[in-house]
Amino acid sequence: MFSFLKKKTHKIQESKVIVYQDYSDVSRVARYFKNETGVTFDKQESILKNKVTTFCKQREIHSFSNLLEIIEKEAKIKQELIDYLTTNETFFYREFKQIDELTKLVKKTSRHVEILCAPSATGEEPYSIAIALLEAGVSSSNFKITGIDINYDAINKAKEAHYRERNVRNLTPEIISKYFTHNGEKYLLNDSIKSLVSFQLANLFDASFKNIGKFDFVFSRNMLIYFDQETKIKAKAILESMRKDNEVGVFFGHADLF
Ligand SMILES: C[S@@+](CC[C@H](N)C(=O)[O-])C[C@H]1O[C@@H](n2cnc3c(N)ncnc32)[C@H](O)[C@@H]1O
Repeated sequence: MFSFLKKKTHKIQESKVIVYQDYSDVSRVARYFKNETGVTFDKQESILKNKVTTFCKQREIHSFSNLLEIIEKEAKIKQELIDYLTTNETFFYREFKQIDELTKLVKKTSRHVEILCAPSATGEEPYSIAIALLEAGVSSSNFKITGIDINYDAINKAKEAHYRERNVRNLTPEIISKYFTHNGEKYLLNDSIKSLVSFQLANLFDASFKNIGKFDFVFSRNMLIYFDQETKIKAKAILESMRKDNEVGVFFGHADLF
């Protein structure tokens, strides 16, 4: 037996099968995750280690190397890890000034516009845009919104559109009663708004991302904050290439600044 392995690992004996647990070096998982999603844990390796250890133990995966082998073969586990490690915090009318700016630009044009929200997380941002456009008097037949996110759970929640008090905290009681049905602790978004946004599971860095199409306006807020500088530059170029017209800028969040 390799003596160095014995030192590093903890041994569990279960009916004659010896399983070595090794949750010591998370750096390969960190590198893998950054390559796949852009999200970096460079300054938060101990947080990542704790989270990935819990993820592995819940699934009886006995080491980080074993996790990486499994992920290569099982797309479901890979998606579960992505869902587990990405942060989907969002709420309605977040950084509303930019949404207001967008409504003014849309009102200036008489043509139909297509808007991309990348990332949309659980849907609050693209639905906010839909509500704000309607409130500004833009006809629902004049715009189409697409929301994308790498997180499968978030995309499903966005499609369901059931929210909690904290998600709608920035909305006025008038907007809430106009566009939601309040049911117990939940705020259910009306179908009239849900039908104005379509959602897709997508990774900004996949080669197929560009097939989503070209858009008049692109929103990408509070995703670049999870990337390092080099990845931010790559992401910015991809998002800018999604515009139909190079004159129009991408709406980034204030914290995403380069
Ligand atoms: C904090 S949320 C931002 C949501 C919304 N745009 C806002 O500003 O409120 C960040 C989202 O970025 C998504 N994300 C991270 N990396 C991604 C990638 N490579 N491709 C697509 N989405 C990604 C996460 O899953 C998460 O839902």
